[in-house]
Amino acid sequence: MTGNPYPLGLRLAGRRVVVVGGGAVATRRVPALLDAGADVLLVAPELTPALRAHVDAGRLHWEPRRFVPDDLDGAWLVQVAVDDRAAAAAVSAAAAERRIFCVRADDRAAATAWTPAVTRHGPVTVAVLGGGDPRRAMSVRDAVRDLLAARAGQPNAEAGGAVPGRPSVPAPGESDTDAAQVGRVALVGAGPGDPELITVKGWRLLTEADVVVADRLVPGLLLDELRPDVELVDASKIPYGPSRAQEEINRILVDRARAGKVVVRLKGGDPYVFGRGGEELLACAEAGVPVTVVPGVTSAISVPAAAGVPVTHRAVAHEFTVVSGHVAPDSPASLVRWESLAGLRGTLVILMGLKNLAAISATLVAHGRPARTPAAVIQEGTTSGQRTLRSTLGTVADDVAAAGLRPPAIVVIGDVVGALDT
Ligand SMILES: C[S@@+](CC[C@H](N)C(=O)[O-])C[C@H]1O[C@@H](n2cnc3c(N)ncnc32)[C@H](O)[C@@H]1O
Repeated sequence: MTGNPYPLGLRLAGRRVVVVGGGAVATRRVPALLDAGADVLLVAPELTPALRAHVDAGRLHWEPRRFVPDDLDGAWLVQVAVDDRAAAAAVSAAAAERRIFCVRADDRAAATAWTPAVTRHGPVTVAVLGGGDPRRAMSVRDAVRDLLAARAGQPNAEAGGAVPGRPSVPAPGESDTDAAQVGRVALVGAGPGDPELITVKGWRLLTEADVVVADRLVPGLLLDELRPDVELVDASKIPYGPSRAQEEINRILVDRARAGKVVVRLKGGDPYVFGRGGEELLACAEAGVPVTVVPGVTSAISVPAAAGVPVTHRAVAHEFTVVSGHVAPDSPASLVRWESLAGLRGTLVILMGLKNLAAISATLVAHGRPARTPAAVIQEGTTSGQRTLRSTLGTVADDVAAAGLRPPAIVVIGDVVGALDT
């Protein structure tokens, strides 16, 4: 076939796309078709587990057999993902007869359509064809992706946003940039400390922000990369007590968004794990400010992992419980039933627990958790300042005091603490 390819963006929502083959190529192609909303018919005697998972979830229809030309009835596009040249040629021929574009994994020259290398950046999709050389297409695509990421940091770059009146994580496939270009707030989880542990989406929104309201535990290097014109509000420096400070933060979020700014509320870990993200979301929703929530990598799981402690492990723990230790067990203000937690066999992950660690560990032992249960305390996990202490439930409070560990730290109690020791 001669001539340059003619680029198009296919709008496949609700339109039948036939995929022939159930192996590795189909496994790679199907997710983007589903993301585009295509009505996917998969024809293959056997499937990879990943494809079977799509079938089991009802995301596509599977015909467990070899291809027959009638499979193309009503189709707009066919993807041939089989190695067998003769079988692929038969699909091509049936497609050509029906004037349906046909992508061939086995033979680009025989195909009537090519799949490009793609990068998606918020509302922008870039598709690159490499003149028959997929590696060239990928390297150009990677360069464009880097450029787009850098451009997102420039003033007037297209902002990611939220769906007004629907303060939630957008559903898969739903754009978070549909809202008009008005002020908005994104509650973004920054991860536990390593700046590379923010999500791709969180980082993109951060580069697009006019105002960043940051918590104390947010990785400093993320802030270092902000544009010079970004207003940075250090929420930990707001000079009131905790509840007034929270009101003040809510006020700043709402005021700046009402002034038309793109506001990122950057919070350590995940915004909804002891992060007061819910309060901020409600304050914005009450004020009619659109909110996007971008979950983060919570320290509750990632910090133990960084210290070699999996919070679950086969045949060791079938549960993990995340609990705040900021209120002493005997305090009337405590919402935690420590005596019940003492009866659990699994992993206990305690955040904000150093101050009350002696009382917490004594309560757990008093109510039946063996004093010899392994314990670990990890300070400043995932950062260059990470310190890890191994101990037991019975001695952990004394050991922490002797070692001089300080917040932020996570306490893990349970047999998982030694599970990966070799
Ligand atoms: C107010 S909570 C916020 C938790 C956060 N939203 C999350 O999902 O990780 C703060 C507590 O999280 C824990 N924490 C957060 N980052 C940590 C880190 N890098 N290392 C150890 N503990 C950390 C500490 O227990 C700290 O006192």
